[in-house]
Amino acid sequence: MIRFVIVVGTLLFGAGAGMAQQDIAVKQDNLMRAQGKSMYVTMLKMVKGEMPYDQAAIDDAIKELQEDVPKIPTVFEPNPKEHVVNATYGSSQKIWQNKADFDSKVPPVVKAIGEIKGSIKDTASLKVAFDTIQAKCNDCHEPYRLKLK
Ligand code: HEC
Repeated sequence: MIRFVIVVGTLLFGAGAGMAQQDIAVKQDNLMRAQGKSMYVTMLKMVKGEMPYDQAAIDDAIKELQEDVPKIPTVFEPNPKEHVVNATYGSSQKIWQNKADFDSKVPPVVKAIGEIKGSIKDTASLKVAFDTIQAKCNDCHEPYRLKLK
């Protein structure tokens, strides 16, 4: 009986730990998706002319990016050690071997957004801003983001 309780207890604990790990991965992914929404839905669609230029929507997207990007170091503090189920992108384990270097990729994104946001006034200037910000996002994606499928 005691052995049975220990086995069941271990199984439950294992399942609980697995869920917590998945929650961490989901939280990290949601932060990236929110940034992706500002950049690739709002801004990129306007750059491509798939959506009419809308200054208020741009200002909101920039504001959200300025709120979200600085959260990256803290949200990526815990290592989920697993990927979001069925995700296209995942985190490289290198993040937690070089956390200081990973974190150092964040201020350049914040700086780029702060410097360029005032210049966005039409599709052409939006394209310049998009490319500038995107390059800084990629400086972290190249070393630390895995393409899973
Ligand atoms: C300091 C590193 C870092 C920076 C800076 C960064 N990212 Fe990411 N990003 C990641 C990692 C790691 C992943 C993969 C794990 C994940 O999806 O949570 C990722 C994944 C993503 C994904 C894929 C999400 C999915 O699963 O569909 C999008 C979209 C994304 N980032 C957008 C952005 C945008 C836009 C910026 C710039 C404004 C940015 N990221 C800046 C590290 C970073």
